Amino acid sequence: MSWSEWRDAPPGDFAVLGDPVKHSRSPRMHTAAYKALGRSWRYNAVRVPLSEFDEAVVHLARLGYRGVNCTVPLKEAAFRWADEVDATTRRIGAANTLRLADRHATNTDAPAFVNTFAGKGPVLVLGAGGTARAVLVALDEAGVRTFLWNRTRAKAEALVESLRVAADVIEGPHLAGMRSVVNTTSASLQGEALPIDWSMAGAGTLVYEAAYGPSPFLDAAQAHGLEAVDGLPLLVEQGALAITWWTGVEPDRSVMMEAVR
Ligand code: ATR
Repeated sequence: MSWSEWRDAPPGDFAVLGDPVKHSRSPRMHTAAYKALGRSWRYNAVRVPLSEFDEAVVHLARLGYRGVNCTVPLKEAAFRWADEVDATTRRIGAANTLRLADRHATNTDAPAFVNTFAGKGPVLVLGAGGTARAVLVALDEAGVRTFLWNRTRAKAEALVESLRVAADVIEGPHLAGMRSVVNTTSASLQGEALPIDWSMAGAGTLVYEAAYGPSPFLDAAQAHGLEAVDGLPLLVEQGALAITWWTGVEPDRSVMMEAVR
């Protein structure tokens, strides 16, 4: 998939900004959605170093871009850049979607998680990084009983306090008593498994991975016969919600899923 440095970005309508950005499946997903809608909008992948975020966004707006998605490590910078955010996004403190003309930001990861997560509580959330913020706020707003485990416990405790969510931090990734488990760590991206004793999982436990790509976490869950959801539904849903937020039109999610699978 092609991408460019922000200074060399071609004119376009929408883009995904990240660093790195070359592995992003968003360009082919959005391009397929626009084509199915009969629109000629262009969506590009653009590398933006964190230290150049504001400068890059101004440049892209001048090039005619209407909206951008932001991924690692830019979601907090995107939030700070905005003049206006909705209440859920303000709580999360990170945004993945910007409208450039009026400097509005939103976080479509949180509603996308709600729309794609069919599990029940108690839910065990793994990880205390950027993705965990959106998942924890979404679960809190839905009133779901939530536990949180992170390799670095202090980070989990600080996160629960800063988000003011009703989640209990636990010592190990223990599945006993949980009906769902959501992995927001970046362990799978590094090809690493998590120290989970899968024999403790109840038969109906729903296992959800927030990141797409190869996942030792899902492999282990499936080896234990558990129902597993990979990161693609979340990718598609956050992208579909961004399209509607930017343009008011409803894209075909099955077309988008076909493009990223
Ligand atoms: P993101 O924005 O994608 O959520 P992040 O903010 O860098 O990424 O957070 C990564 C999360 O994955 C952290 O919770 C991290 O745990 P630490 O806080 O202990 O660093 C977790 N993580 C990354 N690699 C991991 C691994 N191999 N095992 C367990 N947790 C891991």
